[in-house]
Amino acid sequence: MTVKPTFPDATPVALETAELAFLADVRDGLSRPQKALSPKYFYDAAGSALFEAITRLPEYYPTRTEIGILDRSGPEMAALLPAKAALVEFGSGSTAKLRRLLRHLDKLAAYVPVDVSGEFLRAQAETLSGDFPHLRVEPVVADFTRDFDLPETLSGMPRAGFFPGSTIGNFEPAEAEDLLRRFGRILGVGAHMIVGVDLVKDAATLENAYDDAQGVTAAFNLNLLTRINRELAGRFDLDSFAHRAVFNADASRIEMHLVARDAQAVRVGSDTFAFEAGETIHTESSYKYTVETFRALAERAGWTWLQVWTDPEGLFSVHALRQD
Ligand code: SAH
Ligand code: AVI
Repeated sequence: MTVKPTFPDATPVALETAELAFLADVRDGLSRPQKALSPKYFYDAAGSALFEAITRLPEYYPTRTEIGILDRSGPEMAALLPAKAALVEFGSGSTAKLRRLLRHLDKLAAYVPVDVSGEFLRAQAETLSGDFPHLRVEPVVADFTRDFDLPETLSGMPRAGFFPGSTIGNFEPAEAEDLLRRFGRILGVGAHMIVGVDLVKDAATLENAYDDAQGVTAAFNLNLLTRINRELAGRFDLDSFAHRAVFNADASRIEMHLVARDAQAVRVGSDTFAFEAGETIHTESSYKYTVETFRALAERAGWTWLQVWTDPEGLFSVHALRQD
């Protein structure tokens, strides 16, 4: 469906259904007392590429630490999964971690990467198919917080879930619980799931990981405004906003914000949003768990908790769950 909204002072743009949802969320989020936008909107093609650059930063310990755990304990993880399973990865990004797991999984019937970043997902799936010609790859472009269908070709195959990267941490704990419950429904009784979860640690390590010296995370955060400007006829001046990352110890989460450097009014389509100097848009939370707090969350969501693997420094955790 394509709808043409009228934007009196802005370039008329034709919005697709997905962009109308984006516009509705931006309107709602920027109208709240604490302005907020969902981190899922970070991930257009440019945002996905910036996230990949983040994963290679010296300060961003989660990716290399989780890969270390997958390399060390992959055989044990693989042994848990049923033969000829379809492995569904929620928020698959570059598929780098699946590639590590694949070294130990010679019995996979299909791999289903699910991601909201459509262009990036299609390119990654194509490259993966080229590299593993015998693996059946069935990408699904979807927002996994809403209902979506898995390919019909998977019917009859046992299913397993893979949710690495601590993407679960980008949801409020109650939403994370709903999400795990939803994944349980999608995967079905008997399914296993491998989930990567970042662990609580000192504030300095956390804040450096989300505010790197090269400014890549700042660019990732600001890309949200670039995306609003391009897709929704926004008029954000990127130089008027600064990146901020702060650890909120009480809530056990890193918060990312975009801070207005001066008082200003910003048009987005036909709306205008006023900012005071120093006012922020809360763009992302990244919750940090302990092994025990995550285990309790998974159990509240109806999963049986089986096992955890961590790195020697206790920075990151990978959990195995089963849907009984
Ligand atoms: N699994 C990869 C990527 C993590 S980055 C890793 O561990 O490195 C988070 C990924 O989740 C991005 O690729 C992003 O596009 C995707 N994502 C975020 N919110 C999503 C949503 N609501 N639905 C589907 N994909 C989402
Ligand atoms: C995808 N997600 C788990 C990342 C995180 O660490 O919360 C996104 C990110 N934001 C800033 N840096 C990385």
